[in-house]
Amino acid sequence: MGSDGQSSARPTFTGTTNALEVALTDDVLVVHGGTPLQGKIRVRGAKNLVSKAMVAALLGDEPSRLYDVPRIRDVEVVRGLLGLHGVNITDGDEDGELVFDPANVESADTDEINVHAGSSRIPILFCGPLLHRLGHAFIPDLGGCHIGPRPIDFHLEALRQFGAVVDKRPEGIHLTAPTGLHGTKFVLPYPSVGATEQVLLTAVMAEGVTELRNAAVEPEIIDLICILQKMGAIIKVHTDRVIEIQGVPRLGGYSHRPIPDRIEAASWAAAALATRGDVEVLGAQQADMMTFLNIFRSVGGSYEVVDARPPRGGSAGVEGSIRFWHPGTELHATALETDVHPGFMTDWQQPLVVALTQARGLSIVHETVYEQRLGYTEALNKMGANIQVYRDCLGGTPCRFGRRNFKHSAVIAGPSKLHAAELVIPDLRAGFSHLIAALAAEGTSRVYGVDLINRGYEDFEAKLADLGAHVERP
Ligand code: EPU
Repeated sequence: MGSDGQSSARPTFTGTTNALEVALTDDVLVVHGGTPLQGKIRVRGAKNLVSKAMVAALLGDEPSRLYDVPRIRDVEVVRGLLGLHGVNITDGDEDGELVFDPANVESADTDEINVHAGSSRIPILFCGPLLHRLGHAFIPDLGGCHIGPRPIDFHLEALRQFGAVVDKRPEGIHLTAPTGLHGTKFVLPYPSVGATEQVLLTAVMAEGVTELRNAAVEPEIIDLICILQKMGAIIKVHTDRVIEIQGVPRLGGYSHRPIPDRIEAASWAAAALATRGDVEVLGAQQADMMTFLNIFRSVGGSYEVVDARPPRGGSAGVEGSIRFWHPGTELHATALETDVHPGFMTDWQQPLVVALTQARGLSIVHETVYEQRLGYTEALNKMGANIQVYRDCLGGTPCRFGRRNFKHSAVIAGPSKLHAAELVIPDLRAGFSHLIAALAAEGTSRVYGVDLINRGYEDFEAKLADLGAHVERP
């Protein structure tokens, strides 16, 4: 697999057999493209909230209860790490309900923690809660998608300002807090989602007041704040990306139903558009997807929002949903720039670009969140797309990457007829875009490394089957 998001369109198997080759050969989905996706699927709690909510449970001295937890790999990784630290996790009565009992939080063996090295970026968020509960923390090498260097300098600087001592060693990062953790004033150089969560999870029980400026305010962060507030935290969200946290000496548990996964919802929407299909995404919420819906409409896609209605009197309730469909007429090119909330999410970009290959004219995409998130377009070009990537900031606003010589803008000329190919999945979102491209293309594609998609898309193969896709394991 590409190590930096630059995919190669074809697996280059050699005469020798190594572990990667075997893994790729086994982990392949055969996709017979050209059939519009049609039907209904459901999204559950947002991957990028659920995993953080699980970490928050560590802070409480009472059990917490989380609903609608999807069966995805990232949840398993956090579950494993919490288990190693003595959190007892059981299934609740409802499907997708997890109960976390943090009564016996304890140190974990570094070798055991390191089993999870490279599997997710969530371990970095254990720092504050473990420092509060144990006075020390060990963080393994991080994983997550290879979409650029993904530094953790903001996290470590914030932790130092709270009073943590950070000791980087070859096996990972050891942290201690010899004089406890104290409220601080911190300005993020960029509104990083993870660093904002780091500050929240540390400040809620630090002594005194913390003021965070230039904070990220994604819906998943606001939902995390709701969870922390349920646990007893005092957090004020001011205007202009300022968050103020009054530390409290103890936190209790929470009971929470997370916001739905707006990245997954948009991914299925893009799949509906690219395959000329019609997909209703049960659970999708308009308020969290406004920016996506505007672009979807400007491209010519149709959608209808169905508001949730609780059961009343004798009548049954209605589950909220958004139905997305191809209008049957030509799609139009558009210009978009990814950005922090309320901008167009970087994670919506890759799936939508596949649909943009079917739009007439020149579409422009300026990726301003990650410097290397366009490498996957190479594979789309091998399937017949016409996408050029540029170092310039195309589409208006200059961003941090223009001066640093990264290919972070794309021009997509459409419409293009996509044809089948052999594809290797480079990372989670690009992986889903490869899958959409294979579904939209004429002919039979082989998509290698599809298991990576299970990191963030629950039961995606079952959902594909429900939507009438012709896919099979060889
Ligand atoms: N950054 C730094 N230093 C830091 C932290 C971040 O320079 O210490 C930079 C990053 O390199 C990047 C930018 O800040 O250029 C934004 O990164 P951010 O910290 O916001 O991202 P993250 O917290 O690591 C989360 C999601 C990503 C999503 C981004 C942006 C999780 C587990 N991951 O990552 O989701 O793209 O926010 O919204 O919540 C995905 O789900 O596929 C995914 C990659």
